[in-house]
Amino acid sequence: MNFMHPSSTPHYDVLSRAFHWITAIVVTIAFILGPGGFGRLMRQGMDPATHIDIVWHETLGMLVLVLTVLRLLWVALRPAAPQIPMAPRIHMMAKLMHLALWTLLLLLPITALLALGGKAHPLTLLGGVRIDQIPLMTNSALAKLLDWGDVHGLLGDAIMWLAGLHAAAAIYHHMVLKDGVLSTMLPPKKPR
Ligand code: HEM
Ligand code: HEM
Repeated sequence: MNFMHPSSTPHYDVLSRAFHWITAIVVTIAFILGPGGFGRLMRQGMDPATHIDIVWHETLGMLVLVLTVLRLLWVALRPAAPQIPMAPRIHMMAKLMHLALWTLLLLLPITALLALGGKAHPLTLLGGVRIDQIPLMTNSALAKLLDWGDVHGLLGDAIMWLAGLHAAAAIYHHMVLKDGVLSTMLPPKKPR
């Protein structure tokens, strides 16, 4: 594909771009591993540490939480994000989409920890890490309030739908509006 790189197009800084693409890849792999029937198996007493797809899912999902917290700190400190002129309606939609994605990036791991805590399941991570008592979560009133596993699964589906729309919007900016928005998240082209 012939990406448009007008010399005037600003770019996100390298750390913002790295956070964005690593998060996108990790979320997608965590979703693919989102093991079907996994909540049911755990309710039947299956030990999650014996299922490698669960261990990978929980490890990648917790990595998303770490990446998102570090990334939000970076958003507070980094150079201003590139400002591309666009119609106010499109600008508003982009802001709303980013807000929804940020919210889901935080809510996915939190609802997962609530799902585990409500059923007193351990958090099992790669490297044999096993946390039986998840601080603030295990057997807490909030964790027992509802079936957070169902909420978590729905939010997992929602982030993939929204990420798909967000990617389609980026491609629309590139192919139709030709305003350089997609290029802001890509590496700057080296001067020839
Ligand atoms: C950003 C990351 C994540 C995404 C996109 C995601 C996605 C999903 C999806 C789609 C399901 C439903 C699977 C099905 O029933 O077919 C699921 C279930 C589950 N995930 Fe995640 N997840 C993420 C992070 C996490 C984390 C951090 C943990 C652990 C701390 C976790 C633990 C679980 C558990 C325990 C279930 C089963 C819930 C139940 O049915 O009771 N997930 N996840
Ligand atoms: C799970 C997948 C994804 C998630 C969670 C995600 C999330 C986000 C978030 C939170 C931002 C705001 C970033 C910031 O201010 O630093 C953003 C910006 C952006 N994303 Fe994604 N993204 C995903 C996938 C994609 C894909 C596949 C594309 C391209 C095809 C893409 C293109 C862009 C672009 C061009 C921007 C900059 C938009 C602007 O500044 O108005 N993203 N994304």
